Amino acid sequence: MAMPETAPVPNDSVTETPPQPTRQIRIFDTTLRDGEQSPGASMNLAEKLEVAQSLADLGVDIIEAGFPIASPGDFEAVQQIARTIKGSTICGLARCNDKDIDAAGKAVGPAESSRIHVFLATSAIHREFKLRMTTDEIVRRAVAGVQRAVSLCDDVEFSPEDACRTEHDFLCRVVEAAIDAGATTINVPDTVGYVTPEEVFKIFDMLRNRVPNIDKAVLSTHCHDDLGMAVANSLAAVAAGAGQIECTINGIGERAGNAALEEVVMAMKTRSDFYHCQTRIDTKRLVPISRLVSSTTGINVQRNKAIVGRNAFAHESGIHQDGMLKERSTYEIMSPEDVGVAKTDLVLGKHSGRAALADRAQSLGYHLDAEQLQTVFDQFKILADKKKEIYDGDIIALIRQEIRAD
Ligand code: KIV
Ligand code: ZN
Repeated sequence: MAMPETAPVPNDSVTETPPQPTRQIRIFDTTLRDGEQSPGASMNLAEKLEVAQSLADLGVDIIEAGFPIASPGDFEAVQQIARTIKGSTICGLARCNDKDIDAAGKAVGPAESSRIHVFLATSAIHREFKLRMTTDEIVRRAVAGVQRAVSLCDDVEFSPEDACRTEHDFLCRVVEAAIDAGATTINVPDTVGYVTPEEVFKIFDMLRNRVPNIDKAVLSTHCHDDLGMAVANSLAAVAAGAGQIECTINGIGERAGNAALEEVVMAMKTRSDFYHCQTRIDTKRLVPISRLVSSTTGINVQRNKAIVGRNAFAHESGIHQDGMLKERSTYEIMSPEDVGVAKTDLVLGKHSGRAALADRAQSLGYHLDAEQLQTVFDQFKILADKKKEIYDGDIIALIRQEIRAD
């Protein structure tokens, strides 16, 4: 695989590498479309409008607001979002047929900037068992669909569904035809979450080298998480030249979900030395929007979820807490404030050490001498063996007990 070399860790570089230009990566959020396809995640109109406004405030470039032909409610939601949300392109999904495309065009029409996302499957499995269409028919249908969509909105995105399992020659042929027909974004979905980062890199590299008109379109990645590789695959696509990432808040989506927006964004920000990319995302809004989407859809965020999980900036081990109190960068690669978390959480539990207890006592307004600290610490360890979580109230009780005994 010809992925770029890992950036050297600080102080490891002997020779200076020339500075690389920073590429702007578009963030295409599909929480309201692919995300809403998660079983149990459906949202009503008011909820969709609230999430769409938060996505625009977050700095998302394109909001895929829904699949207008899917239901009258979906049509209405996309149209209302198109009417009211400013600052992001509003996109509607359509299969490659006139009815879908016309409905999408009507729904996104009122937007400041409108996009229709036309998709048609291209892999042999889908051609044979789902569509029962020949390759020639697929190319004809894709071209006609893109041409129709071009007349109804500001820009058109085309997705060869199941692209990553499509024969390379045929994928190149469809992509070239779609661009000639007017598509300005070509999305390359890993519809079933099947490929590895190395394969994704090769597919994007192959398209960039073999499709003659590829520079007329932005290449986009859309990865599902069936094998837990959606984020890694999206980043591999970026490393191979993709200019747009399709993702969802908290990674919700069909089956195991989509690439998580907060993860791809923070990976590119934290490792800008490696990716040389930036986005328009206001990262301080990541945790608030994660909570909004979770409470709106009823889909909980796992505690250890990267970036937005409750434990993402929590440290319990004594060794880690001691390091954190001396210098944050010992165990923290991002600052919690950057993603909208007020501060690092030094959780007090049975693995915690004296330094964290002293720090907590001080922040609660108690100044313990060494002897008092040792006694409170001994009591704290006994309590921590019995309780999963130690609250400030527990610490205060232990300190008061010690102060009274003195
Ligand atoms: O996963 C997929 O292939 C999709 C398409 C509609 C782009 O969601
Ligand atoms: Zn999808």
